[in-house]
Amino acid sequence: MNSSEKAPLTPVLTKRWLSPQSWRLHTYEKLEGYTAVRKALSASPEQVVQMVKDAGLRGRGGAGFPSGVKWGFMPSDEAKPHYLVINADEGEPGTCKDIPLMMADPHALIEGCIIAAYAMRSHHCFIYIRGEALHPMRRLYAAVREAKQAGYLGHDILGSGFDLEMTVHAGAGAYICGEETALLDSLEGRRGQPRLKPPFPAASGLYAAPTTVNNVETIATVPSIINGGSEWFRAMGSEKSPGPKIYSVSGHVERPGQYEAPLGTTLRELLEMCGGMKDGVPLKFWTPGGSSTPLFTAEHLDVPLDFEGAAEAGSMLGTTAVQVFNETVSVPWAVMKWTQFYEHESCGKCTPCREGTFWLAQVLERMVDGRGSEEDIDTLLDVCDNIGGRSFCALGDAAVSPIQSGIKYFRDEFLALCESNRPEPAGAAESPES
Ligand code: NAI
Ligand code: SF4
Repeated sequence: MNSSEKAPLTPVLTKRWLSPQSWRLHTYEKLEGYTAVRKALSASPEQVVQMVKDAGLRGRGGAGFPSGVKWGFMPSDEAKPHYLVINADEGEPGTCKDIPLMMADPHALIEGCIIAAYAMRSHHCFIYIRGEALHPMRRLYAAVREAKQAGYLGHDILGSGFDLEMTVHAGAGAYICGEETALLDSLEGRRGQPRLKPPFPAASGLYAAPTTVNNVETIATVPSIINGGSEWFRAMGSEKSPGPKIYSVSGHVERPGQYEAPLGTTLRELLEMCGGMKDGVPLKFWTPGGSSTPLFTAEHLDVPLDFEGAAEAGSMLGTTAVQVFNETVSVPWAVMKWTQFYEHESCGKCTPCREGTFWLAQVLERMVDGRGSEEDIDTLLDVCDNIGGRSFCALGDAAVSPIQSGIKYFRDEFLALCESNRPEPAGAAESPES
C-alpha cells in the first residue's frame, strides 16, 4: 500500500480478541502468531531496530518516545547484561488497554518481547504487572509456560542460538511504580520511588545495567510491524504518529470499551463507534489520555487524537484513556476526585508534590463541601504553579493538569460553587468513577 493512502479501520492489535480461547497458544499460532519472531531471528539485531525505527512506532505508555530510537540507545557490547522490562503496571485513571490486551492476547506481548529482547541483545525480560490484576497475571503465567514448552522461550529459541528467560513480577499497587525508574527500584526489591534522570535506564537501569522499559501495547505492536512492514504500518495513523492504537472509552457513552483505531482518530469518530453519548445527554468535558492530560470540552470533538494533534490543542495524547463526562457532572467534583487520587499516590520524595497535592485536595474538598471562597480559585492556581515543572517526576505535572484545565474552561462553575456556599449539588455523586 502506498504510504500516502490511509488504511481503513482494520483491527491489528485486537484482531484475535474475539476468537475462542484467543489467549491460548494454539489459537495464536493459527492466527499468524509466532511468525514474526521467526523473521526477526533470521535478521540481525540492528536490522530489527531499523525496522521499528522505519515504522515510526512511538511508545504507547503515554510519553510517545520513538521506540526504535530508544532501543538504539542500548549499547552494542554485552559488557553487562541487558534487560528488557515491560511496564504492565497500568494505573493511570481511565486507562484500561494493557490489561484487556494481556487477557485476550498474551502471546502477542510475549512474541513482541522476544523480538525486542533479540534486537537489544537482552537475555532476560521482566514483565512488571499490577499485583491487583490477578486474572491477567495468571493468564500471563500460563502463556509464558506455554511459550516455554513450545520452544519460544528459554535456551536456543527456534534453533537460532538466542536465549531468553522471562519473569512475570507482581507489583504491590502503587501508581508511582508505573514511572519507569520507580518500577526498576521496586523490581530490585526496594520501595518504588523515581530515580534522577539522566542517567536514563538505557545507560544505567535494572541492577545498574543497560535496560529498556517499554509499555505492553508498544511491544504487542511489534510483531505486526515485522510481519506487515514499515510502509504498511505507516499507512495507518498520521505522519508523525503512525499505526493503530487502542482507545479506552469510558464514562457517559452508550458502549464503553476498547476501540482500536488509527492514531489521529477524533472523539467525534470514537463516539460514533461507541454508540454516542449515553441517553443523548450532551458532552461537557473529557480527557484525551487519562486524568494526567489536561481536560478537553465539546469544542475539541474534532481534535485528531495523536501526539501532535492533542498537544497543539493544549493537552496530551497520554494513554488514550478517553473519559467522557456529560453535562450532569460537576467539574469541581470530578477534579477533586482526581486530586484525591494524586494526593494518595504521591510517593513523598519531593516537597512540591508531597505537600502541594495535600493542599490542593484540602482546598478542593472545602469548595465541594460548600465552604469555599473566590480566593480559593487563585490559591489552587498558585499551588499548581508551585508543583508543575518543579517536581521530581511527572506525577507532579499530572496532578495539576485537571485543576488548571478545569479552571481554564469552567472557571464560572468553580466561582458559582464558591458563591453558593452550598455543597455540590446531587448528580455529581452519580458521576462515573474514573
Ligand atoms: P519521558 O518523556 O521522560 O520518557 C519517555 C521514555 O523515553 C522513557 O523510557 C525514557 O527513559 C526515554 N527517554 C526520554 N529521553 C531520553 C533520552 N534523552 N535518552 C534516553 N532515553 C530517553 O516520560 P515518562 O516520565 O517516562 O512518562 C510520562 C508519561 O507516562 C506521561 O505522558 C503519562 O501520560 C504517562 N503515564 C502513563 C501511565 C499508565 O498507566 N500507562 C501512568 C502515568 C503516566
Ligand atoms: Fe514522588 Fe510526587 Fe515527587 Fe514524583 S513528583 S517524586 S510522585 S513526590
